[in-house]
Amino acid sequence: MHNKISALLSEVEEFTSDSAQKVEEFRVKLLGKKGDLTLLFEEFKQVSGEAKRELGQKINELKSRALSRISELKQALESESAPAALTLDVSRPGTAGCIGTRHPIATVRSEILAIFRQLGFTVAEGPEIEDDWHVFGALNFPPEHPARDMQDTFFIEKKEDSENPILLRTHTSSIQVRVMEKSQPPIRIVCPGRVFRNEAISARAHCMFHQVEGLYVDQNVSFADLKQTLLYFAREMFGADVEIRLRPSFFPFTEPSAEMDVSCSICGGKGCNICKGTGWLEVGGCGLVDQNVLDSCKIDSQKYSGFAFGMGVERIAMLKYQARDLRLYFENDVRFLRQFTAVV
Ligand code: DAH
Repeated sequence: MHNKISALLSEVEEFTSDSAQKVEEFRVKLLGKKGDLTLLFEEFKQVSGEAKRELGQKINELKSRALSRISELKQALESESAPAALTLDVSRPGTAGCIGTRHPIATVRSEILAIFRQLGFTVAEGPEIEDDWHVFGALNFPPEHPARDMQDTFFIEKKEDSENPILLRTHTSSIQVRVMEKSQPPIRIVCPGRVFRNEAISARAHCMFHQVEGLYVDQNVSFADLKQTLLYFAREMFGADVEIRLRPSFFPFTEPSAEMDVSCSICGGKGCNICKGTGWLEVGGCGLVDQNVLDSCKIDSQKYSGFAFGMGVERIAMLKYQARDLRLYFENDVRFLRQFTAVV
């Protein structure tokens, strides 16, 4: 029996195979119903006396060695057939790191804010989900004004009898109201943000876009201050030789109101297809804050006056980059976005 045990032990130590099936066959050969070890145990039952203890120990050692050898082999074969990702091939070419770029709208937005910061304006933000009072009421929109219509505004909650429905802001002028309600002059803020309008999406219109609103309220703020501020902005943004032009207009929240144009920096004002031959490009609206707006926000309109302006970020991006389909800015097609590498 001693010889049989040592023969089996060396068989166990020497056995190796690269096939899981062979390992299994080996296990059956040793430990199966009619396996070598099973037979050995049968034989062992006949042994008596002194030799029994020593032999029993040896057979048990053989069995546990056989079991651990078989499981070692099985494990090695399993990890070899594991997915290739677990094995490292150092000769493979590396994956090139791809550094993203800022979205053109984010770039233009920060350029606009940086210019006004130079003039002492600070940045204020407000909620996109607003109420009627902050978007229309406090800004002197009469109750029947068409902007309040479902055609133009996305309402979130409009109960029959509600005087202050909840809606998506249609302009960032609502931030003016929130700031004026909470603070007293001097106020000098620029308010960037997303705005929403119920528009059919086309190359020229979108239901969501970005605006930057400006507001300056203090003693003796005049239209001349507004003009100079806008001229400074235009020259910083579009070039030192651009001119601005203010055309009379109407907004409920400013009096007088104007539309602001900058001279076309592409043709130098001579007329091209970007400015449709006029030499001028429209960038936003502006005016002196209507007294009713100051009163609504509990600011003494006898003591203080102010100017405000609002401009479209996409509009300025279009002029700057000459990509004139508004939809391109929102589709996030990387072939479009990759072209903008400016970091601000
Ligand atoms: N809120 C206007 C709009 O969305 C833009 C605007 C015009 C803002 C004149 C102003 C302003 O502050 O004075 O079209």
